[in-house]
Amino acid sequence: MNILQAIAAYGSDVARGWGIEEFGVRVGISTGPVALGSIGSGARVEYAAFGDTVNTAARLQSSAEIGSALVDAPTQRSIDPLFVWGEPRKLSLKGKATPVLAFPLQAVRGERLRLRGFGLHSPDVVGRDREMAAMRQALQDVRAGAGGILLITGEAGLGKSRLLADAHEASGAEDDHDPKLLWLEGAMPVVDRPASRRGARAPR
Ligand SMILES: Nc1ncnc2c1ncn2[C@@H]1O[C@H](COP(=O)(O)OP(=O)(O)O)[C@@H](O)[C@H]1O
Ligand SMILES: [Mg+2]
Repeated sequence: MNILQAIAAYGSDVARGWGIEEFGVRVGISTGPVALGSIGSGARVEYAAFGDTVNTAARLQSSAEIGSALVDAPTQRSIDPLFVWGEPRKLSLKGKATPVLAFPLQAVRGERLRLRGFGLHSPDVVGRDREMAAMRQALQDVRAGAGGILLITGEAGLGKSRLLADAHEASGAEDDHDPKLLWLEGAMPVVDRPASRRGARAPR
């Protein structure tokens, strides 16, 4: 959407400055597996994506009208709540046995969407009743004026961030459900320790 808007604005400059009317951009987006790799040799090596997904995107792009974007169904599914969509079109694309459903992008949705962290596409949480109950209790205590510290530890991927994101959502700290509650997050910068301190060298 930003690309379309920027080029549309630039297009007016081009029309005014050089009298060229049809300066514009078309966008095609497809989601799927691709092969990534270097192609070519010598000074002309390019790193690029290949495969059906790329071809589909290119065909969608050439089917789009100037100043617009077309996306395929898998893309539309994954970003559906973020945009306003036009009527889907069935396109017969070169190299495709069956017609491809193409969704025209109309606008970015105005209302603030709650997609912080894990909102879009995250599967339902399983087996965190006890942890969530502890989080809820802690939040309730905070509201009652009692501070405290909750320590969440676990292996990478175990769901620490998810638990926090879900607690954040349940807290009511957003969207003015509870304007008295202020949710702040911080992070320690990841600092690489100098090699000499890592104990890499054995003491002599
Ligand atoms: N209890 C759970 N049930 C279902 N999915 C979960 C659960 N906990 C985490 N996930 C998912 O697993 C992935 C990794 O979780 P994440 O919170 O990023 O882990 P961590 O921060 O501990 O490294 C995320 O996609 C998250 O949505
Ligand atoms: Mg995390």
